[in-house]
Amino acid sequence: MDTYHERAALRSRLQGARAQGLRIGLLPTMGNLHTGHIALLEDLRQACDISVCSIFVNPTQFGAGEDFDRYPRTLPQDQEQLAAAGCDLLFAPSVAEMYPHGLTALTTVTVQGLQEGLCGAHRPGHFQGVASVVCKLFNIVQPDVAIFGEKDYQQLAVLRRMSQDLDFPLRILAGATRRAEDGLALSSRNQYLRPDERQRAPMLYRTLQQMRDAILSGIDDYRMLESSATGLLEKSGFRTDYFSIVDADSLEPAGTQTQHLTLLVAARLGETRLIDNISVNLAAAR
Ligand code: PAF
Repeated sequence: MDTYHERAALRSRLQGARAQGLRIGLLPTMGNLHTGHIALLEDLRQACDISVCSIFVNPTQFGAGEDFDRYPRTLPQDQEQLAAAGCDLLFAPSVAEMYPHGLTALTTVTVQGLQEGLCGAHRPGHFQGVASVVCKLFNIVQPDVAIFGEKDYQQLAVLRRMSQDLDFPLRILAGATRRAEDGLALSSRNQYLRPDERQRAPMLYRTLQQMRDAILSGIDDYRMLESSATGLLEKSGFRTDYFSIVDADSLEPAGTQTQHLTLLVAARLGETRLIDNISVNLAAAR
């Protein structure tokens, strides 16, 4: 696997591949890779001829007081994992390479309607930072296909909409959430959890499953389910940013007519913010 730190060098390498008619696939990451990322790479490799993974801890998607400085940076270990998993190219730029004009007066992308609620309400500017950096990565790599994890459900929705609205000629794949045996969704941030917090963390997924089962049993008072889920989580020591039952596409609050629902949660255990989600297709279930 070859590693590139500069846009120009990566671009010229990819031009050659494109000229040979090879399909290029992109897996954008912030590094500190775990088996969830490697599973996404495996899914991506099924859909392309040349796989490119990017590792960039993007400062513009972190708010003041968030974990940008302590976000784990583990490039040598990541390189080993990617090479062993058959990744073809790694793009690992510096902040100066990605933002040559600095971070204060940036050209940005906003995805109105999808970026403001849920995590966007608790992390102002986050999705603008994500959409803008992914837009740059799409322009640098010009992939035929890109993959993002379903764990970051709102991110996936924002990036799908951005890609449609800005006419990127590529396919976006959604990679299923990979979980530890006890159900906790794999995330680089899980390593921040203290041992007692790690023991309690699977309650997040269990609560999602419980509310999903309630919906499948016919309960459609979604606001009541949201507050009962929040109560359960708070009792177990979580501080809940939100537990929301929304339309899977629009991310608007679900109502009794909604057929395809997604249950989304963001909650803090100690210093660590965890997110997870589960989808229910009532049309298919009935
Ligand atoms: O999901 C992530 O790791 C990041 O938000 C992404 C998509 C790589 C953009 O920085």
